[in-house]
Amino acid sequence: MSHETDFLVIGGGLAGLTFAMHAARHGSVTVLAKGRSTSSASDKAQGGIASVVSEHDSFEDHERDTLRAGAGLCHEDIVRLCIQGGPESIAELESLGVPFSRMQDDQQAYDLGKEGGHSHRRILHAGDFTGHEIMQALHKAVRAQPGIRLLEDRLAVNLIVERADHPVGVCRGAYVLDQNSGQIETHLGSCTVLATGGAGKVYVYTSNPDMASGDGMAMAYRAGAEMCNMEFVQFHPTCLYHPRAKSFLLSEAMRGEGGKLRLADGSEFLEDYDERGSLATRDIVARAIDFELKKRGDDCVLLDMTALEADYLVKRFANIHRRCLEYGLDMTAEPLPVVPAAHYFCGGVRADARGRSSVPGLYAIGELANTGLHGANRLASNSLLEAVVFGRLAAKDAVEWAARAPAPAGEPPSWDPGDATDSDEMVVVSQNWDEIRRFMWSYVGIVRSDKRLERALRRMQILQEEIREYYWNFLLTSDLVELRNIAVVAELVIRSAQHRTESRGLHYTLDHPEADDRLLDTIIQRDGGVRSAPIHPSVHYDWI
Ligand code: SIN
Repeated sequence: MSHETDFLVIGGGLAGLTFAMHAARHGSVTVLAKGRSTSSASDKAQGGIASVVSEHDSFEDHERDTLRAGAGLCHEDIVRLCIQGGPESIAELESLGVPFSRMQDDQQAYDLGKEGGHSHRRILHAGDFTGHEIMQALHKAVRAQPGIRLLEDRLAVNLIVERADHPVGVCRGAYVLDQNSGQIETHLGSCTVLATGGAGKVYVYTSNPDMASGDGMAMAYRAGAEMCNMEFVQFHPTCLYHPRAKSFLLSEAMRGEGGKLRLADGSEFLEDYDERGSLATRDIVARAIDFELKKRGDDCVLLDMTALEADYLVKRFANIHRRCLEYGLDMTAEPLPVVPAAHYFCGGVRADARGRSSVPGLYAIGELANTGLHGANRLASNSLLEAVVFGRLAAKDAVEWAARAPAPAGEPPSWDPGDATDSDEMVVVSQNWDEIRRFMWSYVGIVRSDKRLERALRRMQILQEEIREYYWNFLLTSDLVELRNIAVVAELVIRSAQHRTESRGLHYTLDHPEADDRLLDTIIQRDGGVRSAPIHPSVHYDWI
């Protein structure tokens, strides 16, 4: 039996729920969330959401900072669209009850934070719990909306693409694993929205929650969607270095408020790399840390907050302070050990200004999408902004598409497990999983080279064979589905990185240390071919 809805949303984070709120005014919405409401990456976001809300700031300045961080690959029209859409989205979040922090002496004014690469204070935050506050407010609003059905513990496995009227078919929905019953469900919609977030779990060290296994990216690619700029993986410079912390993030806002990065001997070092020092963009800071750690053989560098008033720190960074104390670290009294970790995928499913992918009926929003906003390196706190602005814009377009989408050619076949049996060797899954994440860290991490990428691709191809065999022979489990997705995403990152024979933004390779302005966006086509595409004008998918 299949479940039908007007708008099928895969992903229960900020982009997905924003879409759902807007689309629900026009039809029924089903949201499939992989985990529980507090497990998304959006919920974990600490820093905040960048938007121009102060009279001392301007759209032009925010645009300039975004373009500078993006190192020549941002799509200017998309940057403008997103930044100018910020105030409307902020007002909407406030109307849902998000308690953005205000100045103590002026409750009318926002207490705006600063982060690397921003020329002004423009980060709206709710203490250091911004993502959580936003997601709580959105969840409340979604649950109060009778037109939205939110199903948790659902892991989408494959998209359903009907190949009747168009060379690339029309997306009709997805096969979805109910992680409680182990059953595969068929969910259909007049459009399908991928909002499954990033893929930090492709790397062994990541700031991302466990669910970030690139499911949407892998499904979209398998369904024939064009992928763009997968080589640009952002490593956040400051994750807590502690055996029990599991890459707990120390927000860049800490450096924005005056925190300094130091070497083990207490010296500052970032001025040697960039005049902005600890507040240079993330690509520069993460690479500098990586370089110093390798040169000195140290395990970590230090984030020193001790020059700031203890009372202020405890209030402004209440969540981080409490978590650090759990690990026996008091940021008011001692520097915190930190290392970089995989944090954000700037690349993803190639999407246009309305969130359309190259597959008719399939939208891509949030971290999973590549709209052209981030270019070669995302400016801090632009991601929540992108999620809310494009969630809204995609919903507007999807309502129009739903009204004229071609009728389905027939009922899609239900999921057929074939002769699959229960796996008796889950060790194969965990071993492959571990291997991919480790070699991605070592060979396809902050610093790359031709040889490292070649090695990674060779290993990947062997592993892909094993995973394919496993996938067809054994009944699906969430671990197996995630492993298969991680393998696809890892291969896309490697192949895109091989295509980019230059260093730019987040992609740094020892063999091509200079920028080459002939290389534009890296596109992986549906036939697996890789090409460069111009960034102006931005892509526009006309569908049918
Ligand atoms: C942070 O708080 O440092 C993360 C925010 C972001 O990735 O934009």
